[in-house]
Amino acid sequence: MHTKTIVLSSLCALLLGACATTPSPEKQAAMQDDARKAAGSLMKQLGGTLKTTIQEKGPAEAIVVCKEKAPAIARSVAETHGIQVKRVTFKSRNPNSVPDAWETQALKAMEKQLAEGARPDTVEYSGVVHKGGKSTFRYTKALVMQEVCMTCHGTPETIPPAVQARLATEYPNDKATGYLPNMLRGAISIQRPL
Ligand code: HEC
Repeated sequence: MHTKTIVLSSLCALLLGACATTPSPEKQAAMQDDARKAAGSLMKQLGGTLKTTIQEKGPAEAIVVCKEKAPAIARSVAETHGIQVKRVTFKSRNPNSVPDAWETQALKAMEKQLAEGARPDTVEYSGVVHKGGKSTFRYTKALVMQEVCMTCHGTPETIPPAVQARLATEYPNDKATGYLPNMLRGAISIQRPL
């Protein structure tokens, strides 16, 4: 690092607590691209595991897979890409999925995109957030309801009794049902400190 940069950043730290970083448009595009890849990899791995388990063991058993595998897959994608990854939603099954203020804004913006007719697989939202002298690149990828999701997030008519029973024991405070195809179920939320 150049001395000048060190002096400047120490000055910043002294005067402002720290300086907020705003990445160049190119850097931001590169981070967006990487976040997109990370989200894609998570969706592919999770979707694959879900599909195989439903086929081999039935949807009630797949609930446990979702519970244990989803966080493990998210951790491995986070490590590979050097980012933080989680899933968020307005109506959570896992209590850790409650969105923060920025994620709430992102979910609303993506609901609007869907309502305006955007293709579900293109719906995303990103930005740089400055808070407490720290800057973070943030990205969300929409998770949109498809037919397969109706078995576990749909209505009493689409969720088989065995699945309803298992959900009641595993998630006594489950709010993640009552969805219809093409609704926004939630999002993959990615953060990269700058
Ligand atoms: C076999 C049942 C099952 C199917 C099918 C299923 N899910 Fe889930 N889903 C779950 C369970 C169980 C959780 C909670 C996992 C956990 O404990 O982290 C969950 C959690 C989620 C979350 C995290 C937010 C929350 O509510 O905690 C999202 C987003 C989500 N599912 C989207 C989908 C989408 C989109 C589909 C269809 C492509 C789908 N799910 C299909 C069982 C299922």
